[in-house]
Amino acid sequence: MQNPNSIDDVQAMLSDTGYVCGRALATVVFLSLKLGRPLFLEGEAGVGKTEIAKALAASLGRRLIRLQCYEGLDAASAVYEWNFPAQMIAIRTAEAQGDADREILQKELFGPDYLVERPLLQAMRPDANGAPVLLIDELDRTDEPFEAFLLEALSDFQVTIPELGTITAPEPPIVVLTSNRTREVHDALKRRCLYHWVDYPDFAREVEILHAREPHLAEQLSREIVAFVQALRTEDIFKKPGVAETIDWAKCLLALDVVDLSPEVISDTLGAILKYQDDIAKIQGSEAARLLKEAKASLEPG
Ligand SMILES: Nc1ncnc2c1ncn2[C@@H]1O[C@H](COP(=O)(O)OP(=O)(O)OP(=O)(O)O)[C@@H](O)[C@H]1O
Ligand SMILES: [Mg+2]
Repeated sequence: MQNPNSIDDVQAMLSDTGYVCGRALATVVFLSLKLGRPLFLEGEAGVGKTEIAKALAASLGRRLIRLQCYEGLDAASAVYEWNFPAQMIAIRTAEAQGDADREILQKELFGPDYLVERPLLQAMRPDANGAPVLLIDELDRTDEPFEAFLLEALSDFQVTIPELGTITAPEPPIVVLTSNRTREVHDALKRRCLYHWVDYPDFAREVEILHAREPHLAEQLSREIVAFVQALRTEDIFKKPGVAETIDWAKCLLALDVVDLSPEVISDTLGAILKYQDDIAKIQGSEAARLLKEAKASLEPG
């Protein structure tokens, strides 16, 4: 699949995979592909940051390689490791057979058979379908030393394995980094990337997303769902629902054969959109009824 030629192409291509993308996001995606720069996406939880990498890979027909970040992630888990248990077994077997030709054994032990490739190395391997999409997800969960390491890896896309030599990517991967901004990511890394803040979608776009993800949902109900969730996001709550929650909630309502939102239905299913007891306690009951009224009023013409 060819890289898109215009911003409209990006929108069309992503929409074919069910990803609804505004003009601003489509623009940075287009530029990132065109200029070969990593794409750095920040935003609230559940707004479609991770999904964009998946949609890109699917629509370009590329392999998706995901590096999930967590506290304590180090270069070994991100790039490569030697398969220590297998190496031990090979040594023991050779010893038992009495043919422990040390030099040959050593060469084999640190050869491709015992190399465990982790995401960054996998992303540098040639691929018949073209350079893969490398998703470095939730970067804010790692620590600064790893970030510094990553900065270097992203600048030259080569890895040196002392026993094997230097491996260079024939074509740099398409890199998407995401962060939930639980901490600020270093400027040096941001500077290498094109940045976009993924916000909650507006009413029309969220209805569109819901339609793309749950095509069986009746038009009126989907408008009510989105209007209610959008009203809920204006409330002072601890954890605002993302698009993921809107979709989940719609699935629940479909499963319950709900045709129209009522305060009772909302109270019974609030756990699909709010994940903190304090938030649920705050919204349940009269507050939910008030928000629903507000939401329905906003849907009336004129
Ligand atoms: N613009 C969109 N078009 C289509 N689906 C979307 C869109 N935005 C979000 N979604 C849906 O919402 C769900 C959550 O998206 P995703 O996992 O990408 O969120 P995230 O921003 O990575 O959240 P987190 O910070 O929690 O990881 C996905 O399953 C996806 O189907
Ligand atoms: Mg995510």
